[in-house]
Amino acid sequence: MYSEKVMDHFNNPRNVGTIENASGVGTVGNAKCGDIMRIYLDIGDDGVIQEAKFKTFGCGAAVATSSMATELVKGKTVQQALEVTNKAVMEALDGLPPVKVHCSLLAEEAIHAALWDYAQKNNLTIEGLKKPVDDIEEKVKEE
Ligand code: FES
Repeated sequence: MYSEKVMDHFNNPRNVGTIENASGVGTVGNAKCGDIMRIYLDIGDDGVIQEAKFKTFGCGAAVATSSMATELVKGKTVQQALEVTNKAVMEALDGLPPVKVHCSLLAEEAIHAALWDYAQKNNLTIEGLKKPVDDIEEKVKEE
């Protein structure tokens, strides 16, 4: 059911932890399954992501996608990090079962939320980045 890559990132997740004084922190959740994901980014003055860490209180696929997402954004510029979509994360993991697609969406949302936080703190506008819906209640209403 799960690819070897998913199992690998689930069993040995990369970048677990927090970053003190992170440039940006994003926390998102899925109201239906109750899983929560938080991503921390350390972004240099040149706008390149130096470090990415995560904490996920969620299912195995959420752990694997956070692990892969943090790996993918490291060394990228803020603009390039926006291209790390849930599709990109899933592809890098050799796919996810359909019922687990929303877990990868959480990873994309958490990255966007962390980038939004970074932009807010630095008075920046990141082209193409939308304000994250961080209110879980609101999200349920939208569905
Ligand atoms: Fe909800 Fe995986 S089951 S994030």
